[in-house]
Amino acid sequence: MGERIRRVRIVLVGVGNLGRRFCRILARKGPEIESRYGLRLMLVGAADSRGIAYAPEGLDPARVAALKEKGKSVRTYPGAGQEGTGLDLLREIEVDVLCEATPVNLKAGAEPALTTIREALAREIHVVTPNKGPIVLAYRELVKLAQEHGAELRFDGTVAGGLPALYLGARDLRGATIHRVEAVPNLVTGYILDLLAGGLSWEEALGRGREEGVLEADPSFDLDGWDAAAKLVIIANHVLGYPATLEEVEREGIRGVDPAAVRRARERGALFRLLARAEQEGDGYRLTVRPEEIPPGHPLSLLGKKGMGVVYHTDIYGTISATIREEDPTPSAATMLRDILDIFLP
Ligand SMILES: NC(=O)c1ccc[n+]([C@@H]2O[C@H](COP(=O)([O-])OP(=O)(O)OC[C@H]3O[C@@H](n4cnc5c(N)ncnc54)[C@H](OP(=O)(O)O)[C@@H]3O)[C@@H](O)[C@H]2O)c1
Repeated sequence: MGERIRRVRIVLVGVGNLGRRFCRILARKGPEIESRYGLRLMLVGAADSRGIAYAPEGLDPARVAALKEKGKSVRTYPGAGQEGTGLDLLREIEVDVLCEATPVNLKAGAEPALTTIREALAREIHVVTPNKGPIVLAYRELVKLAQEHGAELRFDGTVAGGLPALYLGARDLRGATIHRVEAVPNLVTGYILDLLAGGLSWEEALGRGREEGVLEADPSFDLDGWDAAAKLVIIANHVLGYPATLEEVEREGIRGVDPAAVRRARERGALFRLLARAEQEGDGYRLTVRPEEIPPGHPLSLLGKKGMGVVYHTDIYGTISATIREEDPTPSAATMLRDILDIFLP
């Protein structure tokens, strides 16, 4: 290329399913991104729940991933591991972008993510996060904080895994009035509903979900529709410009779904899914999450067991839909790369 290489110093807080896959992506795609776009993505720091690792010249992302795949802490990274927290990294080293990938924690005020993100923005460090918690609970505060400090805030991975549902809605539909949004933004519920459609009882489907690691120890966040509602709130705020809160979403999870009804729907070529919907009403939107039969021919009717999707009904761009088949969390992890490139490329 011959042009100047721009260094992007990244701190990753949370190196679990997504964080360690993001490290693998950095290792694999780093050279290509440098030669194609002139950006050198350097992982200068990483933090998990047990400690940190820091190297100003860059950690080896493949080595970080390998440690985490073995269940070790980043603290054991040879020569760079130490005690400390993500906040310490932000306060003590030179950072261009924070990638925050700790668990959602809506019950505990989205901590520790919210504090870490506030600290980064206040220090003019750009923030990328797939963590819904801070965006659901503090969208407006964080957007304002980012603007005040000239920092960018990106959270593409918070809605529908690797599907660029937010970019599509907020960037590519600018100028439109969006009358209605329909989304299937949650994988777990679709997976369970398809097991029911295949003939399993509720008990069998939940057992299978646990065996295959699809269900969390506490599955209520998914099954009771909280996850889908949180994603709908993010779409409402960010795409529709409607200042929604989690409390106003009319929410019904899938636990009351009758397996016989799901099977009958499949026989008719229809699909049962937990549907998140925003419907224009007066000056605002009515937000609902509930299990629904999606008829054949509907843009979301072809979603498979690992599929998610979104449909935007607009006044001038027609009806636009997008879907993803996400077999493992790599596409979700890759949203952090997409967000970083969106910040740093013109
Ligand atoms: N998994 C997906 O498919 C997916 C898709 C889209 C969005 N997301 C979102 O992405 C985020 C990460 O998900 P995940 O599946 O990767 O979660 P995960 O596997 O549970 O990993 C969470 C990571 O955060 C670390 N952590 C926990 N508390 C911490 C603290 N106080 N300080 C620093 N690190 C801390 C954990 O440390 P240890 O390693 O020491 O336990 C772990 O590395 C979540 O907000 C999730 O909702 C996930």
